[in-house]
Amino acid sequence: MAETDTAPNAAQEAFWSSGPGQHWVRLHRELDTLHDNLTRIVLEAAQPQPGERVVDIGCGAGAVAIAAGQHVGEAGYVLGLDISAPLIGVGRDRAEAVQICAPDFLVADAQTWAHEGAPFDLCVSRIGLMFFADPIAGFRNILAHLRPGGRLVFAAWAASEHNAWFRIPMELAVARLGPAAPGDPHGPGPTAFADTARVIDLLTEAGAKDISAQTVDTTLEVPEGYKAAAELTQFVGPISRHLRDKGGTDADRAAIHRGVKEAFRRFDDGNGCHIPARVNLFSATRP
Ligand SMILES: C[S@@+](CC[C@H](N)C(=O)[O-])C[C@H]1O[C@@H](n2cnc3c(N)ncnc32)[C@H](O)[C@@H]1O
Repeated sequence: MAETDTAPNAAQEAFWSSGPGQHWVRLHRELDTLHDNLTRIVLEAAQPQPGERVVDIGCGAGAVAIAAGQHVGEAGYVLGLDISAPLIGVGRDRAEAVQICAPDFLVADAQTWAHEGAPFDLCVSRIGLMFFADPIAGFRNILAHLRPGGRLVFAAWAASEHNAWFRIPMELAVARLGPAAPGDPHGPGPTAFADTARVIDLLTEAGAKDISAQTVDTTLEVPEGYKAAAELTQFVGPISRHLRDKGGTDADRAAIHRGVKEAFRRFDDGNGCHIPARVNLFSATRP
């Protein structure tokens, strides 16, 4: 049961708490390794300072919150906030083993979260802010919890054409099962913030200042190689939904999986699978 009202984002709460988002609980170690370069990109841009108060929004299983704690040290404070109780449960378990500035974790909808403590110096997020039903309300609420001059720094996926992780499985799924029904490209979902100009407008409307956006090319990492990378796409990413929407069979799933495995082989150099990826990195401040 969430500790604040999740009504505006009830569908997301269901997805991440009891739906397919459950795979993020089971596979949190693999997904943290996959997204490790994104952690570095966000924290290098955010520069958490010793003693600062940091909130990681849409923190999932807490890897970025825990990493931020190592920067702010014992004099600092970190809160990991997520709408999914099971993911927050993983974060809390992991925090028990953290020696320096173990984060607190809170189940809440960031769009409506009400926080009564001291304001934060910094809000960070690794691909956790693209799921608000009302992104302006979400940004406005986050800014309200920052001190004046406080920073907001977050990474979101660029368009899937620049992200083989999404593009290759989806191309294969469409080739096998036909195209997806047209949807709202700006609706809550992984690529909702692919259009940087739109996100700058949303942040402006929410009252942010000093807004900047840049695209950053990186890789997603699967040290166990291309077969393990293809296996992950069975559970995380667009394939499962497309199979469900199209009534795909086990044979369809197996054929798509074979295709992904074959396609990902080219990213494997014998020391792991390095999948080219692009994120949009945004920063802004509270006036
Ligand atoms: C793609 S996952 C990223 C998780 C984590 N940041 C990471 O990199 O591993 C998106 C996360 O956003 C969370 N989320 C979605 N909508 C949210 C909301 N309205 N408030 C708080 N968290 C939300 C989900 O529960 C999920 O953990």
